[in-house]
Amino acid sequence: MIKELLTGNRIGETVKVNGWARTFRNNQFIALNDGSTINNIQLVIDFNEYDDKTLKRINPGTAISATGELVESLGKGQKVEIKVNKLVILGDSDPEKYPLQPKKHSLEFLREIAHLRFRTNTFGAIFRVRNSLSFAIHKFFNDRGFVYMHTPIITASDAEGAGEMFKVTTLNLNDVPKTEDGQVDYKQDFFEKATNLTVSGQLEAELGAMAFSKVYTFGPTFRAENSNTSRHLAEFWMIEPEIAFADIVDDMNLAEELLKYTIKYTLEHNMEDLEFLEQRLLQEEKQKPQNQRSEMALIEKLNFILDNDFERLTYTEAIEVLMRSKQNKKKKFKYVIEGWGADLQSEHERYLVEKHFKKPVILTDYPKDIKAFYMKMNEDGKTVRAMDILFPGIGEIVGGSQREEKLDILLDRMNEMDVPADEMQWYLDTRRFGSAEHAGFGLGFERLVLFVTGMSNIRDVIPFPRYPGSAKF
Ligand code: 4AD
Ligand code: MG
Repeated sequence: MIKELLTGNRIGETVKVNGWARTFRNNQFIALNDGSTINNIQLVIDFNEYDDKTLKRINPGTAISATGELVESLGKGQKVEIKVNKLVILGDSDPEKYPLQPKKHSLEFLREIAHLRFRTNTFGAIFRVRNSLSFAIHKFFNDRGFVYMHTPIITASDAEGAGEMFKVTTLNLNDVPKTEDGQVDYKQDFFEKATNLTVSGQLEAELGAMAFSKVYTFGPTFRAENSNTSRHLAEFWMIEPEIAFADIVDDMNLAEELLKYTIKYTLEHNMEDLEFLEQRLLQEEKQKPQNQRSEMALIEKLNFILDNDFERLTYTEAIEVLMRSKQNKKKKFKYVIEGWGADLQSEHERYLVEKHFKKPVILTDYPKDIKAFYMKMNEDGKTVRAMDILFPGIGEIVGGSQREEKLDILLDRMNEMDVPADEMQWYLDTRRFGSAEHAGFGLGFERLVLFVTGMSNIRDVIPFPRYPGSAKF
């Protein structure tokens, strides 16, 4: 791979590389990239050895295989290059038609050609970082004795209440079977009941934790919420650890440790990509007014996360901070905070993180009415042991809680919140047999990738984004 050859360890050897041409200069120098690194290797060819027709086939995007000696480069900009003695064109790329020209393309344009955007420096860097983060997450949990659990994608439970769900059916939509009272007759559907794509693997992960003590899921989740924002996807990947014999403090510690570990991992393994992304961000921010630019460059910001404890405070304390803020007093928020009980909007979360504390914040103990039924009730009878982690530039990156392990209290909560207990006997069984304190959280993978890469739109950190009106590729 080009990454290895560029280290220069194999100077003097005959090597073979395969890749795609980025540029071809002076009928002599091919910049070749194979995706293993952001850097290209320079192929030097002797144009006297090729006819004009062959030379014309070397264009941006052409797939090439080259063999030759790896030598020290005399030219500027690279340590090594390959003196090619055998060049094979594997696949042509018509320069009149190839959409990726060697110039700057907008992110919006590249989203339209997401099938080719991996071949740009920016997206090469993003998806190598994404890969590293994914590996780091598995390594983190594996090293700590967690069992990786695959929770179902298709589910009949809609208990989470996390968002609108996508329906899964094999019924003929042009001729839907109906029951006598005019409802859709799901008895005739594939699963003989109504099913959806999962919004979270948590409930099943809880069952796993009650046997393996420590589990995590890492898979796709689906939400049909019509939020056309730069932070939401209809299909996103979520990491959901669940730990038994653990409370909310253990949960917060685990989340903070995981976030720091994965960020550190990319700093150790993806520095070239991060340096490139940092420059990209600096260029992008030059277009913005001074007060909208980041205070820190990308790598400094990542190190800042590692070096600082996350600020931990309760929802009630956060409301006090917000009520005291000039922003709120002068009604600068779109949703002015009137008092305790208000659901925090992303503008409030960002105020706390970016303006007030200037570092990641963990908010705990939210009002029970704005959180899910399974969260453990505090002694005050008003708040639950929830915790959300808020990140600068992102807002909520993690949402979790200690779970209600007491059957009677849980049943009361389900009743209050209209969660159908009779359909969830499987879930309630863990509270009937050997119930124990447990906690967990969900980390939105793309939000983590967004943070680490410094990109601003979540559609640019997943290979093929799904959002309202778009399921292309
Ligand atoms: O806060 P959420 O909805 O929590 C749950 O689903 C819990 N069952 C997790 C648990 O305790 N096991 O989602 C968790 C995280 C959010 O903090 C956010 O990072 C991400 O998932 N997320 C999304 N990311 C992209 N697009 C969306 N539409 C998202 N919705 C949530
Ligand atoms: Mg949440």
